[in-house]
Amino acid sequence: MGGNRIQVGIVGAGPAGLLLGHLLHLNGIDSLIVENRSREYVIDRVRAGVLEQGTVDLLQAMGVGDGLQQAGLRHEGLHVSFRGSRHRIDLAGLTGGKAITVYGQNEVVRDLIDARTATTRPLHFEAERVSVSDLDSSSPVLRFQHGGAEHEVHCDYIAGCDGFHGICRPAIPEGVLTVYERIYPFAWLGILSEAAPSSEELVYTYHDRGFALFSMRSPKVTRLYFQVPPDEPIEHWSDEAIWTEMLERMTTQDGWQPNVGRIIQKSVTPMRSFVAAPMRYGRLFLAGDSAHIVPPTGAKGLNLAASDVLVLARALKAFYQHGRTEWLQEYSDVCLRRVWKAQRFSWWMTSTLHRFPDGHAFDHQRQLADLDYLTTSRAAMTSLAEQYVGLPADVSFESAGLTD
Ligand code: FAD
Ligand code: PHB
Repeated sequence: MGGNRIQVGIVGAGPAGLLLGHLLHLNGIDSLIVENRSREYVIDRVRAGVLEQGTVDLLQAMGVGDGLQQAGLRHEGLHVSFRGSRHRIDLAGLTGGKAITVYGQNEVVRDLIDARTATTRPLHFEAERVSVSDLDSSSPVLRFQHGGAEHEVHCDYIAGCDGFHGICRPAIPEGVLTVYERIYPFAWLGILSEAAPSSEELVYTYHDRGFALFSMRSPKVTRLYFQVPPDEPIEHWSDEAIWTEMLERMTTQDGWQPNVGRIIQKSVTPMRSFVAAPMRYGRLFLAGDSAHIVPPTGAKGLNLAASDVLVLARALKAFYQHGRTEWLQEYSDVCLRRVWKAQRFSWWMTSTLHRFPDGHAFDHQRQLADLDYLTTSRAAMTSLAEQYVGLPADVSFESAGLTD
């Protein structure tokens, strides 16, 4: 049995775990990252695409922004489409020059894995039987099997960055966490298509037949979604049926529609709002999807993972460099303030843009009025814009050991 000690044990090599590992590395803090999937699986998983201005700035300040700089697509606006017309919201003009960047989560994760590998600090893929224990002691334990050996690692702290279905949140004793949850009566069917994006910016559509979203990954690949019933089997949708539905919902009166191409990936994603509070138990800190989930309509999930770990890195830096623990104590409260604002925004985007199966004619008219107001009032557009590009982080980059 391999037994040893590490400062911070990190469970999960998604965006939260990898970002945290690198932030700690930049502050000279040792960590071990344990991931139960393979490197290829983690990189190939198709997920988020929209990075807030603050997430872009963070990746750049961490020195892992080269790929982003080269291949990221900066968008200074987005479109909201309803009743057959597209309306542009000028994100940059309304926020003093802030924007979002479209850069696949796959690429973010690949860049971070490369950066981790270059540090030679440990990152174990395909770990089995990962577990955490002794969380309320002064030395929590991370156990796993890797390369045919059993490992038992004693840590100062453990970061649960293992996503919604991970093992860290369930390791917290019953009764400690309060769970706030909402499950929506629909899911998203998403595709990647080999087709040049027909719009330079995203288009969020509210249609009588339900929500649809036009996005992209590169100048050659379009990313599209539409609302389907929850648990819809993907086998129910032939490629031809997907295109018919996409075009029906997205085509506007001026003839705009997505370009059609070969479908290279398709999947169905359930929609959920979820918060477990506090995001800490003893010496275990939860970050990212392990503590909270937002429906993807606001494009906030990956960005929240990034802001959580910035707050955690600041607290761990203060502990290791100055022996201060008050920022560790405040971690959950600081994160949850931002998390709840992103929850509210994601819920609002979701409720305004989807058809609810039990929705009344009243709701439909109210949603149309909401969208009419949104696209004609500068105040309403400004509110959307400042939230979409990302509310300010509550902690400075400098406090986490980076130069702003
Ligand atoms: P994860 O990415 O889930 O990473 C957790 C890691 O832990 C995984 O690699 C997992 O394999 C590993 N793990 C799990 N269990 C164990 C275990 N027992 N032991 C070891 N490792 C374990 N967000 C946005 O910001 N913008 C968007 O545009 C956006 N679009 C989305 C579209 C879709 C279709 C989906 C599904 C999500 C989208 N999101 C978006 C959300 C975003 O993908 C997530 O919020 C983000 O991946 C969270 O990162 P994380 O590191 O917290 O969790
Ligand atoms: C994406 O490009 O995958 C994407 C964009 C915006 C969202 C969700 C997903 O709100």
